[in-house]
Amino acid sequence: MSFVLHNCIRNDFFVSYLFLLEKIPLVKLYALTSEVIDGEKQFYVRAQHFYQNVPATEEGMMGDFLELSEVDIEGSREFLKKFVGGPGKAGTACALDCGCGIGRVSKNVLLPVFEKVEMADMMENFLIHAHEHYLGDDADRVETYYCYSLQDLTPPVKKYDVIWIQWVACHLTDKDLSLFLTRCKASLKLNGVIILKDNMAREGCRLDPDDSSLIRHMDIVKSIIHKTDLEIICTQKQEGIPESFVPVWMIALK
Ligand SMILES: C[S@@+](CC[C@H](N)C(=O)[O-])C[C@H]1O[C@@H](n2cnc3c(N)ncnc32)[C@H](O)[C@@H]1O
Repeated sequence: MSFVLHNCIRNDFFVSYLFLLEKIPLVKLYALTSEVIDGEKQFYVRAQHFYQNVPATEEGMMGDFLELSEVDIEGSREFLKKFVGGPGKAGTACALDCGCGIGRVSKNVLLPVFEKVEMADMMENFLIHAHEHYLGDDADRVETYYCYSLQDLTPPVKKYDVIWIQWVACHLTDKDLSLFLTRCKASLKLNGVIILKDNMAREGCRLDPDDSSLIRHMDIVKSIIHKTDLEIICTQKQEGIPESFVPVWMIALK
C-alpha cells in the first residue's frame, strides 16, 4: 500500500515537473539567462566595446530612440513622486544614478528633486562629458562620480535616499545583478528606495548581441530580486512606448 502511494507521489511529482518545464517560460528559460551570454567575460567585454563607440549624447544614451526620452523622463518623475517626500517616504538629500551615462536621468529626474546626486558608470568619457558639459551648473551638486563597472562597485553604506538603476541591469549577469542589488540595499538610508527601470521581454530571456544586454521577462527579474532580501513595493509599466518596442517597466524595491 505504502509502496503504491510512494510511486504515485513520485509519478505525480515528475508529471508536474515536466509540465512546468514545458509550459512555464520562467522554468524553461531561467537557466538560459546565464547560458545565452556565452561566457561572463565575453559578455562584459562586448559591452565595453559597444559603449566605446557610443557618442556621449542623449541619442547615444537612448540607443538612437531619442523620441522616447521625454516620455521616459515624465514616467520616471511621476513614479519617483510616489516614494519621496513626506512621512514614511524617502528623503531628498542624496540619490545615486547607476549606469548613468552622461546623466540624462540625473539631470531630468534626480537633480530637480535631490540636494545631491552621485553618478556611477563604467565609461569615463560619459562621466567627464556629464561634468564638463551636459549637467551645466547642476554639476556642482554632483558629489562623486564613480567610474566603475557595477559588478565591482560597492556604494557607501546608508548614504542614499534613492538608488536609480536604469537600462543597465540588462548589462549584468543574474548573479552580479543580485549581488549588486544586495550591496545597494546596504547603501540605502531609512525609508530609502531602489528604482529599477529596464526593458522586459514578453517571454523568456534573450541576448542582444549588439550591445551585449539581456532582455529578461519580468518573472526572471523577480526571481533574481527574490535572491536578495529586497521587497518589491511597486511595479509599473512605462506608458507611451510603442507596441513594436520591448515593454519598459519600473520596479520599486525596499
Ligand atoms: C543605455 S545607457 C543608459 C544610460 C542612462 N541610464 C539613461 O537612462 O540615460 C547604458 C549605460 O550603462 C553603462 N554600463 C553598461 N554596462 C555597465 C556596467 N557593467 N557597469 C556600469 N555601467 C555600465 C554604459 O556605459 C551606459 O552609460
